[in-house]
Amino acid sequence: MESTLTGKTIVITGAGSGIGRATARAFADHGANVLAVGRTLEKLKATAKGRPSITPVTADISEVDAPQAIISEAVAAFGGIDILVNSASVFRPTHLGMITPSEFDQFIAVNLRAPLLITQAALPCLERAEGTVVNISAAIGQHGWPGLCVYGATKAALDFFTRSWANELAQSCVRVVSVAPGPIETPILENNALDDQAVMTIHQTQEQIPMGRLGTAEEIAWWILNFTDPLASYATGAIFAVDGGYTVA
Ligand SMILES: NC(=O)c1ccc[n+]([C@@H]2O[C@H](COP(=O)([O-])OP(=O)(O)OC[C@H]3O[C@@H](n4cnc5c(N)ncnc54)[C@H](OP(=O)(O)O)[C@@H]3O)[C@@H](O)[C@H]2O)c1
Repeated sequence: MESTLTGKTIVITGAGSGIGRATARAFADHGANVLAVGRTLEKLKATAKGRPSITPVTADISEVDAPQAIISEAVAAFGGIDILVNSASVFRPTHLGMITPSEFDQFIAVNLRAPLLITQAALPCLERAEGTVVNISAAIGQHGWPGLCVYGATKAALDFFTRSWANELAQSCVRVVSVAPGPIETPILENNALDDQAVMTIHQTQEQIPMGRLGTAEEIAWWILNFTDPLASYATGAIFAVDGGYTVA
């Protein structure tokens, strides 16, 4: 049976590892063309290995010109965009007493400004395609998280984008959802230099998961993919936790 994703074009940021990589592979395995965005070509090539429909694109999404360049590349390669997955993010400890203005600005640039500018640049394509935006936020966006207040604040704000854009774009038949993962087994800790206290906080968080285990990147990718299915067509503005029960514990 032909997949509903055959021939569709997906742009995924943060596709060089973890959830972004698993999502890029899942879409490619369902027949989609995938533009896989990240800063490190080797990681993107590893994502694309054995899957010729994944095209690696190196870009630092914190740079102001990057969003338009990414979208232009997708249009040049595939003629349009059907689905956008905003998955890249910065994840670092931010103790109130130590956070600097430039660290704060970096969080905003990657976790908020880039999803906004990429979605804005993709909007004409998404409207033509009646497409879907999936923002990857975090289940902890609903809690306080000592030592990680700025990361958590950007994720709560990303969910606010989701709810607001869902309203703005409903008439254009563009749907916007957040998938909010709980603790997932990915290289996120290695990719971001965390101090001992942050690692301890994260381990304490993991101990509170009712299901008693971390999730896998593939378990998140499945939900991202299924939120783009035509049968999910009445879901917009939803913040969907995939967290082993963490948010209800
Ligand atoms: N893992 C978890 O437990 C968890 C829980 C809740 C939410 N999340 C969210 O899920 C999403 C994916 O996380 P993950 O666990 O898959 O993390 P990950 O493995 O560290 O992946 C993040 C990717 O983003 C890319 N990236 C970072 N800064 C970038 C920039 N300025 N420009 C372009 N690409 C950039 C990184 O690649 P390069 O360094 O090569 O650019 C990296 O491959 C994030 O939004 C995260 O906040 C994760």
